[in-house]
Amino acid sequence: MAASEAELFEKAAMVRERAYAPYSKFRVGAAIEDEAGRIHVGCNVENAAYPIGACAEAGAIGAMIAEGGKKIKKIAVIGGGAAIEDCTPCGGCRQRIAEFADKGTEILLKGGDGEVRRYSIAELLPVSFALK
Ligand code: THU
Repeated sequence: MAASEAELFEKAAMVRERAYAPYSKFRVGAAIEDEAGRIHVGCNVENAAYPIGACAEAGAIGAMIAEGGKKIKKIAVIGGGAAIEDCTPCGGCRQRIAEFADKGTEILLKGGDGEVRRYSIAELLPVSFALK
């Protein structure tokens, strides 16, 4: 059964609480629904060596692959400092999402205003790189 958007955001918000972000104080949670309707979550994990910190989306994609998921059907992302802010996937994560996205993949963000914004990967990463 397909997960509802509310359920995806609930899981993303829950995992966001576990984010390890002592440096930026910006906590992010991501929840992926895969092709089989399973949900995989990830949060950002920072490091004292700043550039090796990992984004929430990368964690959720790693969890999906480890659990046998093949495709991202939907991904919900929620992030912010003290309060929820607009948090669009970074450039690197757009490429990571594109690897497992297809035409129907939806990228859902909960904005600082509480509204859900909806994008396709083609909107977020036009003319993207792919190996044939
Ligand atoms: N971050 C994510 O986890 N996902 C995003 O989509 C944007 C940024 C993280 C990286 C870093 O730990 C913190 O948010 C501030 O950039």
